Formats: sequence, structure tokens, C-alpha cells
Amino acid sequence: MDPKTTHPDTIAAQALGWIDERTRAVTPPIHLSSTYLRDPDNQYRSGRVYARADNPAFDQAEAVLCALEGGAQAMLFASGMASATAVFLALSPGDHVLAPKVMYWSLRNWLMNFATQWGLQVELIDMIDPAAVQAAIQPGKTKLVWIETPANPLWTVTDIAATAAIARQAGAAVAVDSTVATPLLTRPLELGADIVMHAATKYLNGHTDLIAGALVTREDSELWQRIRKVRAQIGGTLGSFEAWLLLRGMRTLHLRVRAACASAQRIAEHFNGHPLVAEVLYPGLTQCHGHAVAARQMRGGFGGMLSIRARGGEAAAIGVAAHTQIWKRATSLGGTESLIEHRASVEGAGTPAPADLLRLSAGIEDVSDLIADLEQALGRAHA
Ligand SMILES: Cc1ncc(COP(=O)(O)O)c(C=O)c1O
Repeated sequence: MDPKTTHPDTIAAQALGWIDERTRAVTPPIHLSSTYLRDPDNQYRSGRVYARADNPAFDQAEAVLCALEGGAQAMLFASGMASATAVFLALSPGDHVLAPKVMYWSLRNWLMNFATQWGLQVELIDMIDPAAVQAAIQPGKTKLVWIETPANPLWTVTDIAATAAIARQAGAAVAVDSTVATPLLTRPLELGADIVMHAATKYLNGHTDLIAGALVTREDSELWQRIRKVRAQIGGTLGSFEAWLLLRGMRTLHLRVRAACASAQRIAEHFNGHPLVAEVLYPGLTQCHGHAVAARQMRGGFGGMLSIRARGGEAAAIGVAAHTQIWKRATSLGGTESLIEHRASVEGAGTPAPADLLRLSAGIEDVSDLIADLEQALGRAHA
């Protein structure tokens, strides 16, 4: 199957059309070996030495993801955090990096604590404003610009092409956390990014039953080779069974993402202007900041993530979550089941999440059930 001429849906459904030539199996075996035989003349011609560095169990999932993103190489990691932190750890103490003020909370925490203590100069900026990027970037000193779009938990949208153009001029690499967009809705490498990151725990796997991360690079580069070393040395390597599960999950990525996008759009439109809802945050709503950029940058939908701000403040928001029956009260996103979360409770002090904000991950259930459940929960929270 030629990934350049094959539709992403076909790439995903057939996992690139791969079969095991030896057994004619249509799905791959699970390779569990932790080590590989050395040749009698002391060489490793197979290219494999030890499974902390590399593992044939990754090959298929990495190839599928690479094809979906239009990249040169991909790497699987033990978690989304392991993949994201590997990019920063491949830099050097003293390097300056730009990251968004609004981004996935645990990574922001790691950047402001561990990475800063380790010596990175981390500057958080308003990444959705290219002028702010231009003002903060230090040519020759800024080594990385980190983007998340749409970004947790306000679903703000960053213009990848505009930001990458500024970064390129300053000699900085660009990495994009594209977990929420998925490779089906946005292809950051085509827009000028160097590396795409996914919490594969979310949409790529899609079944809320594994933790995994992934990176894809536009080209083999010095930075990419340093990241490969970080994975091998620190050992943020995915397990073989998890890699197999991830590949299985990716086979239905297109169906799940399309369903989640359609539901999120319907839910956003339904609760937009609702008397018990102060605001709906979703890039698919024309009044939302970033809608125009999202309409240019995202194809086929605006993602399955949205937030609603409950009228009545924090107590009302927590009350809504308490009364949902179909929406599950849990953190995470991108699974088949819809999740609801009072985000400020998870993020704690310093969070940019307003106290009345509920983060919603639309699953693939019937959308009228999801809307009815939120309606009754809003009603009961305000009763
Ligand atoms: C946007 C985003 N990036 C990164 C991560 C981290 O992924 P993981 O939980 O697999 O480490 C998450 C997890 O929620 C996320 O939502």
C-alpha cells in the first residue's frame, strides 16, 4: 500500500495492508523478546540489540502513524508524557524554549519544575498570537517552540504554519502536541512543524485501556537522533502488548474521530446560548477565538473535545458532573465513552481553567443520549 496515494481511512483500517509473510497472518504477532541474537562474528546485522532501544513490536504501529502524519520516522513511548519530555530532554541545559500558557497541565508542571531545574529556560507565552511568538523568540538561543492545538482545556487554536515560519527564521525547531487534532484532522508536518507528538493513550488507541505516547518527525535529524537516545537510555519504552493494542485501536481511528467530532459539534451548538450555560468553548463554533484558523488548519471536523462553563460557578459545575449518568466522571479523553471533568479540581492552584469549567470528551455513543444526559444534569444541579 503506497501511503502517498492511499486515503488515511484505508491506511488506518488495514494498518497499511501489512501481512506476516511467514504465516500469512493478517494481524501481526506480538514480539515479546527483550533481547536479540548477536551474529557469530560479533555483529548485530539484524539492527536490533535490546528491546529498551528498539522492538519489532513497534514497527507496524510506528509505520501506520508515520503514514498518517506524512512523516519520515515515528517512535512509540511508554506514555504521552514520556514522548513529550523526551523532546525537551534532547535539548541542552541553557537552551531557551517557548511553550503555551494554556497547555496540558502535567507537561506544563514538568516544564516549570523539572525542566527548569535541569537548566532549560522555559518561557510560557500566549502561543495563539503570532506577534507574541515573534516578540519572545530569541534567534540562535530559542531551540524549540512547543505548540498544543487545540489546547487543553480552553481549546484555543494556534496557527501552526504562521508559528513555524517565525521559528524557522530564528533557527528553532517546532513540536506540536496534536493529541486532540489527531492525524486525521491536522497534519502539522505539512504545515512546517518538525515533530508531532501524540498521547496515544487518547484517540490513537481510543479504548481507554492503555497508556502510550508517540512522536513523528518530518525528517531524520540530529534532534531526532538525540530523542532516540533519550528513549533508549531513560527507558520510556512501550511494552510489546501495548504496541499491539495500539495498532488494533488505530484501525478504527477514522470512524471514532469522525463520530466524536460530529457529536462534539452537535453538543456545542445545542448548549451554545443555553440558559444554564455561561459559555461553550469549541473551535467549531464560529464565535470561538481561533475558529478561522481552525477552519483553515483542521479538515473534517474540529475535534471531539469541548468545554462548557456552567452558570452558577464552581459549585454548579461540580453539581452538573455529579448528576450525569451517561457521561463518566473521569479524567482523560479520546475513548469510546464520553467523559466529563471539573478541570480546575484536577489542575489545582495556578490553573488557567475557570472554576466553572467542565471539560467534555465526546465519545461515540448516540449524541441525543449525551445531550439529554447533560440537560438533566444541568437541571438537577440548578434545582
Ligand atoms: C494533550 C495531551 N498531551 C499529553 C498528555 C499526556 O499523555 P499521557 O497521559 O499518555 O502521559 C495528555 C494526557 O491527558 C494530553 O491530554
